[in-house]
Amino acid sequence: MSCIVIGAGGHGRVVLDILRAAGLHVVVGFVDSNAKTHGHRVDGCEVFGDMSCIERLKREHGVKSAVVAIGDNGVRRSFAEAAESAGLTLLNAIHPSANIAENATLGRNVVIAAGALVCAHCQIGDSSILNTGCIVDHESMIGTAVHVCPGARLAGRVTVESGAFVGIGSTVIQSLRIGYESVVGAGAVVTENVEPMTTVVGVPARTIESLATEEEARSWLRPMLAARSATTPVSTP
Ligand SMILES: CC(C)(COP(=O)(O)OP(=O)(O)OC[C@H]1O[C@@H](n2cnc3c(N)ncnc32)[C@H](O)[C@@H]1OP(=O)(O)O)[C@@H](O)C(=O)NCCC(=O)NCCS
Repeated sequence: MSCIVIGAGGHGRVVLDILRAAGLHVVVGFVDSNAKTHGHRVDGCEVFGDMSCIERLKREHGVKSAVVAIGDNGVRRSFAEAAESAGLTLLNAIHPSANIAENATLGRNVVIAAGALVCAHCQIGDSSILNTGCIVDHESMIGTAVHVCPGARLAGRVTVESGAFVGIGSTVIQSLRIGYESVVGAGAVVTENVEPMTTVVGVPARTIESLATEEEARSWLRPMLAARSATTPVSTP
């Protein structure tokens, strides 16, 4: 199936490499909202224009699907919604060297980079990135638009709520909950639950910033892992 990559930055290059390695789809080119990139080639693929050129790409190049490759969690989620509204099917980009348990479930627009491990019964929400060499151990639940950075390690039964960022090389011990839109700093070792909208760093991790009001913290949003977000079987690319 012919597809485009939305986002021609660093993460876009990674996603293009994954799609080429997987060999399941023909990548027609990139779409990017930065006009400076338009007309240029990124790793051999043309950047056609912004989202307004999708209709033309559907018509002239038979584009039917897309992967949104934008690092910022919130922006990635918004562009995924826009791509679906424009009539594109959201694909998953899974590197052939990633190891994913047969009974894990993946949403849509999920990127799983080289060497990542996703163990038994994990659920991965829409538009999440499991980056190079990360480990998501058994029965962990990853919400919508989460980024688990390269080399991060989640022990069993960890929940990462929507929009959270788990920094490079960090570790989260078993059964903890990382609150929505929180940030785990590079190299942190998380030994307690992290409140929503909170940044933690260090070993053991300590809070350096919290944007959640007490009221928000009392009514934590739960990740949308049921139904739509995590019901696509792994075998469906
Ligand atoms: C956690 C993070 C987001 C904080 O960024 P920030 O809000 O700009 O924070 P600052 O740089 O102002 O640092 C605030 C304090 O936390 C400390 N700190 C920041 N990041 C830290 C980390 N990863 N580990 C330990 N301490 C850290 C700083 O030394 C500083 O301490 P001080 O107040 O005693 O001087 C950032 O440092 C980080 O780790 N980002 C993750 C990057 C990553 O994983 N990239 C991968 C992309 S694929």
